Amino acid sequence: MMGCEQLDTSRLHLRRQRTQDAEAIAALLTNWHVVRWIPIIPYPYGLDDARQWIARSLRNWADGSDHQFVVTLRDGGKLIGHMGLRPDGNNQAELGYWLGERYWGRGYAKEAVRAVIDYGFGTMGLARIWANVHPENHRSIGVLLASGLRSMGTRPITDRATGETVAGQSYALDGADHDASGA
Ligand SMILES: CC(C)(COP(=O)(O)OP(=O)(O)OC[C@H]1O[C@@H](n2cnc3c(N)ncnc32)[C@H](O)[C@@H]1OP(=O)(O)O)[C@@H](O)C(=O)NCCC(=O)NCCS
Repeated sequence: MMGCEQLDTSRLHLRRQRTQDAEAIAALLTNWHVVRWIPIIPYPYGLDDARQWIARSLRNWADGSDHQFVVTLRDGGKLIGHMGLRPDGNNQAELGYWLGERYWGRGYAKEAVRAVIDYGFGTMGLARIWANVHPENHRSIGVLLASGLRSMGTRPITDRATGETVAGQSYALDGADHDASGA
C-alpha cells in the first residue's frame, strides 16, 4: 500500500473514500451531464452503485491496482468529486476524474489534477500519465492541456449517448517532461 493517501492543495483536500461518502457520491453522479462523458459509470446511478464503487476502490488501494481519491473542499469538507490514477501495468496510469456539475468552472479540476499528477510521478514513480477523452468534451480537454498533457493522437472510445465508437482524443505527460517543466 502506498504511504501517502491524502493530498492538499490551496482549496482542496483529496483523500481515500469512506463508506459514508456513498450518499454524496450518488447525489453528484445522478446527473447525465457528468456521466455522459464516462462510459464506465452506470446511469442512472444509485446508492448501491456508490457503495460498490467505494468497496472496490478500497480493495484496489490495498493491492495498489488503483488509486482513487475523493475531492473535498478544505473549507467545510464537502465532497465535490473524484480524481484517480489507474495503473495499466507499463509503469503508466490512466488519469480519470469528475466533479459535481455545480462545482465546474472554478478551476477545481485543474488544481486537483496538478496534485494527482505530482503524486503519480512522485509517490507512484510512474513514467507516463495518460487520458482518453471524448472529442466533444471540451472542458476536460481544457483541463488536460492546462495540466501539461499533450495530444498523442486518437484511441477508440464509446460515446454512451449513441453507443457508437468514436475517435477519443488521447493525451499524455511523461515524468521526464513534468520534471523538466519544474512543475
Ligand atoms: C471535466 C471537469 C472535471 C472539468 O471541471 P471544471 O471545474 O470545469 O474544470 P476547471 O474549471 O478546473 O478548468 C476548466 C478549464 O477547461 C477549459 N474550459 C472550461 N470550459 C470550457 C468550455 N466550455 N469549452 C472549452 N474549454 C473549456 C478552460 O481551459 C478552463 O480553464 P480556465 O479556467 O483557465 O479557462 C468537469 O467538467 C466534469 O466533471 N465533467 C464531467 C465528467 C468528465 O468529463 N470527466 C472527464 C472524462 S475524460
